[in-house]
Amino acid sequence: MSTIPGNKVAVIGGGGNVGAATAFALIARGVPTEVLVVDVVDKAAQGQALDISDASFMMPGTCRKASFKEAGQADVIIVTAGARQQPGEPRSNLIDRNYTIIKSIMDSLQPIKSTAKILMVSNPVDVLTHIAQKTSGLPRQQVIGSGTYLDTGRLRNALSEITSVSPSSIHAYMLGEHGDNQFTGWSSARIGGRPLLDHPKLQGVDLESINYKISRKAYEIIEAKGSTYFGIGMCASTIAEALLNNTSQVFPIVNYVEGFGCYMSWPAAIGSDGVEQSFDVKLDGEETKKLKIAIDAIKEVCDKYQ
Ligand code: NAI
Ligand code: 2OP
Repeated sequence: MSTIPGNKVAVIGGGGNVGAATAFALIARGVPTEVLVVDVVDKAAQGQALDISDASFMMPGTCRKASFKEAGQADVIIVTAGARQQPGEPRSNLIDRNYTIIKSIMDSLQPIKSTAKILMVSNPVDVLTHIAQKTSGLPRQQVIGSGTYLDTGRLRNALSEITSVSPSSIHAYMLGEHGDNQFTGWSSARIGGRPLLDHPKLQGVDLESINYKISRKAYEIIEAKGSTYFGIGMCASTIAEALLNNTSQVFPIVNYVEGFGCYMSWPAAIGSDGVEQSFDVKLDGEETKKLKIAIDAIKEVCDKYQ
């Protein structure tokens, strides 16, 4: 019961797998927040909130079901609602279904607290972040998406296995799009103050196959168990915590990059005002080509779904 006033996090779609995993991660990681679980299926929200509240008694956070109106007044609004992929289906295929859902959610949340930050998770997340910003009425810096933070974690885990260095000491990013057009920023990657690619255990390793494996990991999980939710639950709760605690941490999240003229998954520092700064990552020629493909793909869909 000891949550800090002003630390309310709403999870829209909290009756589903990703929403529940996110709400649970906020509680289990000890974030001193009041978690509001909201879903169009009221009973699902009620069930998840009651279950998660059973996990909260020894932790500083609390969890309960709430209405859309109450969620609109939260400090951080995490949106995990909507359709998910079938096995083999790309994230981009979800746009028609989730465009309508996200628009209706933004309507139901009104009036949205003027200082609230929206964290989009529903897919395709780069494009839906653009749509959430347009329909919420909040400034660009206050509307972000989880982006390639999850893919970056997958990459760092894979590189950790090869190099025997902790993932937290591997400074490498998946960039561009949380989708099939994501790519590894190999040329900017560092380990122990050295270029990552100089590491002895990476000599002769097929980098393209690592990149491919990471970009396909969600497909592998969905094929095996139907959906992914534990990893993203940790990612979304960590981003929300950085927003609440004004940490200025850098994440590869969906943010509006002025130089590209669109929202996309790119490193940015975030704090209580949302995005504080976006970074100019150095790319080589091949990576620049991949970036252009990602930008073009995101812009094409954003232009269609205004
Ligand atoms: P799910 O089917 O388990 O849950 C979706 C929930 O959304 C359901 O409880 C449903 O009732 C709710 N919902 C639907 N329309 C709604 C509305 N208008 N208002 C409120 N709630 C509504 O699906 P799951 O597995 O939780 O996936 C949710 C989304 O998260 C999908 O779009 C999926 O692709 C995405 N996702 C994104 C990730 C990322 O890294 N960005 C990672 C994993 C999933
Ligand atoms: C993931 O990457 C499906 O976007 C989801 O796990």
